[in-house]
Amino acid sequence: MEKNVWYVTGASRGIGLSLVKRLIQKGYYVGATTRNIDRLIENLGSLYNPDQVLPLCVDLKCEKSVIQSILQTIQKFDKIDVVVNNSGFGSHGTVECLSDEEARSQFDINFFGTLNVIRNVLPFLRTNTSSMYGPRIINISSICGFYGGFSAAGLYSSTKFAIDGLTQSLANEVRPLGIFATCVLPGVFRSPFLDDSTFLVSKKTIPEYEYVNNTLSSLKSTHNNQQGDPEKLVDILLLVSKDKNPPVTLPIGPDSYELIEKRINEIKGDIEKYKDLATSTNFSFEA
Ligand SMILES: NC(=O)c1ccc[n+]([C@@H]2O[C@H](COP(=O)([O-])OP(=O)(O)OC[C@H]3O[C@@H](n4cnc5c(N)ncnc54)[C@H](OP(=O)(O)O)[C@@H]3O)[C@@H](O)[C@H]2O)c1
Repeated sequence: MEKNVWYVTGASRGIGLSLVKRLIQKGYYVGATTRNIDRLIENLGSLYNPDQVLPLCVDLKCEKSVIQSILQTIQKFDKIDVVVNNSGFGSHGTVECLSDEEARSQFDINFFGTLNVIRNVLPFLRTNTSSMYGPRIINISSICGFYGGFSAAGLYSSTKFAIDGLTQSLANEVRPLGIFATCVLPGVFRSPFLDDSTFLVSKKTIPEYEYVNNTLSSLKSTHNNQQGDPEKLVDILLLVSKDKNPPVTLPIGPDSYELIEKRINEIKGDIEKYKDLATSTNFSFEA
């Protein structure tokens, strides 16, 4: 069987854990990053096989730590074929209430962590000539990276919009080099995503935003009851890893498709409203 090597961030639970488990079952090799190696190994249970999985303790905010983990993966498995930037966490807070520190802490992981990986893994993807389907990067964004209309999700949304924009440009840059990039926009999937250990809630609240503050409890009430099955999401990631012409933008989940359509219709309405005036802004040509 062709050797297939993956590098997956945020592997100790949720979608990342489901993905790593599946890769092991398929006989693939994986450098799996986490903040907590013990939890990763414990959660892999009987599937843990040190010949196939390299658990990597990584601080995604720290470029040195990311570089080290990529080098260790190459050292152990000789190459990297597929990178999945999965690490990320959610947040709840109005734009007015979120502090600078809170905002930067989320960008540090959701965006700059991903960027750290991409910047440092590309030299190895460029020189990978033995990848059966073509080396590739799969960035896990969110439906919130396309549909930004949820109150109190402005910060999370903006980190995920940033991933989407980055991936679109990256895909163009690396396609001529034989490398693919895909941005995945999942809808709501069942995982520990909403649990208190990682989900950020702005420290400050303002009574005037009571109607927004109240959305936190309804959001939290969906915890462990989300419609999306991570195993089915993983099925699709495996298909994308072999797609000879993978999409740059990939919504996953019926809710994701619905909201994308909603947003596209909103955009269509918005751009028509001022179209005549807004398209008459060039300097007039004088003969
Ligand atoms: N579940 C959903 O409904 C949903 C929807 C759209 C998009 N997503 C995205 O899908 C990805 C996976 O999420 P999930 O649903 O599997 O949630 P999850 O169970 O909370 O897993 C997220 C992973 O990201 C890593 N992570 C979380 N906070 C971190 C921090 N502060 N610093 C470093 N790493 C951190 C963790 O890795 P370690 O603990 O191993 O370090 C964790 O395993 C995320 O990017 C999320 O935004 C999820």
